Amino acid sequence: MKENDFKGNYHNNIGPRASSSLYFFLQKIPKVELHAHLNGCIRPGTLFALAEEKCVTLSSHHFQPTKKNDNDQTLIQGDDDEDALLYNVQPRSLQDCFDMFAEIPRCVNDVDSLRRITLEALHDFAAHNVVYLELRTTPKVLNAECDKRTYLETVLGVMNEFEQSYTRSMTCRLIVAIDRSLSEEEACENVDLAIAFRKSTLSADRIVGMDLGGNPTRGDFHCFRPHLERARQAGLRITLHCGEVADCDMTSNITHADETSCSTYSEVQAMLDFHPDRLGHALFVPNTFWSSQERRIPVETCPTSNVMTLELAQHVRGHLMEGLQQHPQLREWLDTQYPLAIGTDDPGVFDTNPTKELWLLCRAFDLNVSIICRLVEQSMEYAFCDEATKRRLQEDIHEEMLLLLQSNQGKGSCED
Ligand code: IMP
Ligand code: ZN
Repeated sequence: MKENDFKGNYHNNIGPRASSSLYFFLQKIPKVELHAHLNGCIRPGTLFALAEEKCVTLSSHHFQPTKKNDNDQTLIQGDDDEDALLYNVQPRSLQDCFDMFAEIPRCVNDVDSLRRITLEALHDFAAHNVVYLELRTTPKVLNAECDKRTYLETVLGVMNEFEQSYTRSMTCRLIVAIDRSLSEEEACENVDLAIAFRKSTLSADRIVGMDLGGNPTRGDFHCFRPHLERARQAGLRITLHCGEVADCDMTSNITHADETSCSTYSEVQAMLDFHPDRLGHALFVPNTFWSSQERRIPVETCPTSNVMTLELAQHVRGHLMEGLQQHPQLREWLDTQYPLAIGTDDPGVFDTNPTKELWLLCRAFDLNVSIICRLVEQSMEYAFCDEATKRRLQEDIHEEMLLLLQSNQGKGSCED
């Protein structure tokens, strides 16, 4: 890999030779994943296997069989392999993503396949040293045997089994999602279920919140607001996908969001007025919001997902990093130490993983490893789990980070 292969900020005192040690280092650090959608975590290999098993023809041209092993980004051996993370990436526009989301349930259409994708998702996060995971999913009726309640029971059951049996320790929590492209009645059912599971002694700790997501060009927050309010009254924490698209042409060079580039301004404003516990993406939110809050609402930011869905860069060598440098908010958030949690969003759809997201952020914004470690550590503060679990994990993460940073300094490979 040559230093000038990438425009802009590549130095960071982590030279090209040291960059793969950066990836290895980031792979080892304990991580916190607060923004991942279960069906978006599906391994491409699993999707194809399920399609074959169920005689489903995947109509979308976006699905390509992969020659790689799933999750093989853990197998990076050197600089050239690392280079591969940046190019030959399948472009995924917002529309591409929602075309894909419409196809996945054709293959994940029974309890067995749901169990499989859940277990694989948990393994994949644990393989990247995620120590705390908040997975989110929209409950679905899969078939006559699997209604929305069974769907959630299945996911929760896999989480229980995983925590008890897997040697690496990962604390798993679930956020129940509302799909804004579906009816208010569906949203109401999802809230009822989340509240019922929250009241049940078996799953009370496990279900921690509600999310509003789905195609941002459909539906309206105002319809879902009373249902989310009811969930909040019942003790569930709320995260909203907010300001994901702009009204104006998003592919032009947007450096900052203002009222004119803000996605349906009144909706974004209503979401902010609702004071959710966290915001997802928050790409097109009025500038004044960031500086005017009394309590800064943490943002779940998903670098690769944002580069893809905003189509921030042309499909050229190094485009992920260059794309990220065009992100409408990230640089300012980092400069102002805005509360952030770095997420993968849909690792199966965007061909990413938690290590890669941190690595991209380091590379695009010249962050040194101690900054990225602090960012990860702080993001545990924004978790929806109970305080005792949070404090325990914060202590564990802090200790492990310190040890890793010390041993890394000893080796002198990545600058602290
Ligand atoms: P599921 O809820 O487990 O089925 O995960 C996939 C679903 O998550 C999609 O159908 C969308 O509703 C939602 N989702 C995934 N990625 C995004 C995103 O970037 N924006 C909004 N919604 C999303
Ligand atoms: Zn999302």
